[in-house]
Amino acid sequence: MTKLFTNIKELIQIRDASIQKVSGKEMGVLPTLKNAFLLIENGLIKDFGLMQKMPTFTSDETIDCAGKMILPTWCDSHTHIVFAGNREQEFVDRINGLSYEEIANNGGGILNSAKKLQATSEADLYTQSAKRLEEVIALGTGAIEIKSGYGLTLDAELKMLRVIKKLKENYNIPIKATFLGAHAIPSEFKNNKEGYINLIIDEMLPKIAAENLADFVDAFCEVGYFSVDDTDRILTAAKKYHLIPKVHVNQFNSIGGIAISTKHKALSVDHLEVLTDEDLTDLKASETMPVALPSCSFFLGIPYTSVRKIIAANLPLALATDYNPGSTPSGNMNFVVATACIKMKMTPEEAINAATINGAFAMNVSNEVGSITKGKLANFIITKEIPSYGFIPYSFGSNLIDEIYINGNKF
Ligand code: NIG
Ligand code: FE
Repeated sequence: MTKLFTNIKELIQIRDASIQKVSGKEMGVLPTLKNAFLLIENGLIKDFGLMQKMPTFTSDETIDCAGKMILPTWCDSHTHIVFAGNREQEFVDRINGLSYEEIANNGGGILNSAKKLQATSEADLYTQSAKRLEEVIALGTGAIEIKSGYGLTLDAELKMLRVIKKLKENYNIPIKATFLGAHAIPSEFKNNKEGYINLIIDEMLPKIAAENLADFVDAFCEVGYFSVDDTDRILTAAKKYHLIPKVHVNQFNSIGGIAISTKHKALSVDHLEVLTDEDLTDLKASETMPVALPSCSFFLGIPYTSVRKIIAANLPLALATDYNPGSTPSGNMNFVVATACIKMKMTPEEAINAATINGAFAMNVSNEVGSITKGKLANFIITKEIPSYGFIPYSFGSNLIDEIYINGNKF
């Protein structure tokens, strides 16, 4: 089955298969072809080039893209889309003056979501989560990482991870599962954090590994949640099961989460709203991908990650949504890209690189997605008629997507 896309105004993010991520100044360069064709075969990218040089193909279908652009689908490397219900009341409480921290200390926050999730059946949780997944695919996401962490008991964490497994089976985009048992200390362990960490290490991890339910491991390394030593213990234990770390660090405080994560060769460190020079030095000595989550800063009113400092240090950067019920009830990568430009002063080239190729690296799917590369999945966005790709972040509230293709099929 072949499909030929012709007269593409601009084919965006063309990369050689050897490019896995871009760093520093390279982030400001976005390779494209103007007036291009794209040939796909059996769900994969087969060929592309300039219209003037297009060979004669016999294809099953030809799609004229005059005036439109094609770019790879977004790679959202950090989400919590498996959750039950919502936390709209906490949103209103914050409007009325309570802080995110005060709400959490009053039993709201992550523990509120855990209570709701524990009381929800696996089937219901699947239905709610699949709806969110479909919503974000329609918004252009073609690869996604999903975390557990709203269960906080052995059974409820397994329930979440089984829902992610089912999503993997039923949706044909790359999906990665991350075990985030260390998301918050459950109320039953309020005065016994060690007991909860022992439960994670002695019961949750072995069971999850036996059922092959996770690709990665995460911990919320933060004051009032899990310390650097706690994180170290959990990452060390997870290593036995070959779970690669992707860690929540530096959201509110810099406590050494980056150093411990890079020591464990984390694939990514995520949030980074607070970032010290020492943190930057640790990142520079590693292969770990820094990940910024601007929608979280937007929604909570906390500082934005200093991405200019990160890029100036010649580091790479990925952008993700953090879609979750508490700090970021949005999975819209188009908004993330726009907010990165508007609030974090990334150029459109940098933001698109961060949301595609570098996002793919941050969840270990660079071989399949993240760029227009021969042999990669035919997962791409066809835009409406727009003057330039910079129009995507510029028109921040508009939907500029005409069509989404996943494995060569219209979604
Ligand atoms: O990435 N920071 C930790 N976890 C989530 C939010 C959790 C919640 O409020 O439900 C985050 O922002
Ligand atoms: Fe998160």
